[in-house]
Amino acid sequence: MPCIVSVASGKGGVGKSMVVSNLGLLLAKTGLRVTLVDLDIGGANLHILFGMFHPPATLTDFLTNTLNNLNEIAQPIPSHSILKLIPGTGETLITANLPYAKKKRLIRHLQKHDADIILVDVGAGTSYHALDFFLLADYFLAVATPDPTSVLDLYRFIKLAAIRKVLTAFLARDPVADALLDKDFHSVAAVLEAVGRTSEQGVTIAQEALKRFQPALILNRMTPKSRINTLHLQHLLKQYVGTDLSILGNIPEDIHVQQSILKYLPVVELAPSSPATIALHQIADNVRKMVEQPPESVGRTEEIRKIRA
Ligand SMILES: Nc1ncnc2c1ncn2[C@@H]1O[C@H](COP(=O)(O)OP(=O)(O)OP(=O)(O)O)[C@@H](O)[C@H]1O
Ligand SMILES: [Mg+2]
Repeated sequence: MPCIVSVASGKGGVGKSMVVSNLGLLLAKTGLRVTLVDLDIGGANLHILFGMFHPPATLTDFLTNTLNNLNEIAQPIPSHSILKLIPGTGETLITANLPYAKKKRLIRHLQKHDADIILVDVGAGTSYHALDFFLLADYFLAVATPDPTSVLDLYRFIKLAAIRKVLTAFLARDPVADALLDKDFHSVAAVLEAVGRTSEQGVTIAQEALKRFQPALILNRMTPKSRINTLHLQHLLKQYVGTDLSILGNIPEDIHVQQSILKYLPVVELAPSSPATIALHQIADNVRKMVEQPPESVGRTEEIRKIRA
């Protein structure tokens, strides 16, 4: 069974794909069998970052049943053959209309894919697809820039993901409560209250699910002038969502990143001693340490009963 790490953000354009491609390469260089998966709905471009303009097989082939095994779609990246990629395509997931059963099949196949680590590029936004792809993982990375709108969008994304996680964990065991999935919950506390009303066990199941949801933050495009109050963000998430957000690392604003994208090469390759590369090495080490511990002990888990108050 692979270890799945998903990478998401509230806002688009904050550097997710850059992080996924570089971390993937660094982790593969340590000897791990790494597969990158592009689940960015409508905006899949990981293959382009590696200069693959016409991938021979993409997720479309899986979703349309042309190929039935993700192992056939995961292909070594020609310029970096230690790393595999399951490419998306621009319109893949939209044109395939992705009903729930297809999404479940994709998730099931990813969970048994032949790799040590799968890095999932989830894409921006808070659609159900984005939330479900984020949540299919064992470990959760969130990327933000110091821009206040990026931080706010990230807070919203994590809150909605937590609500969805709690609801789906509960509904998996209590189909009678299916209708809850269609309700528009605005807080985790409201969900806990609703599941508590439906079933006595509901709250315990929901709390267990939340314990395993401990996202880690990567701050990208930091400059010496950046002012970001991560403590405030951590406090908000703890108080209103019940999750502990750990900080995995900061990546500075670095012109080498733009240059690397124009050259279709990961920055860690193009500029091995650049500030961004040094930061990415540190983050790759931290990801390795993170996946060596059980998901529920990432960050500090505490009783989440408080958030019901
Ligand atoms: N640390 C950095 N320093 C300088 N520029 C950066 C840095 N990180 C990202 N960028 C710039 O931001 C752009 C967007 O990065 P990227 O495509 O990885 O974002 P994304 O979050 O995947 O976007 P989308 O939501 O559209 O998928 C890059 O093309 C690059 O020019
Ligand atoms: Mg992207």
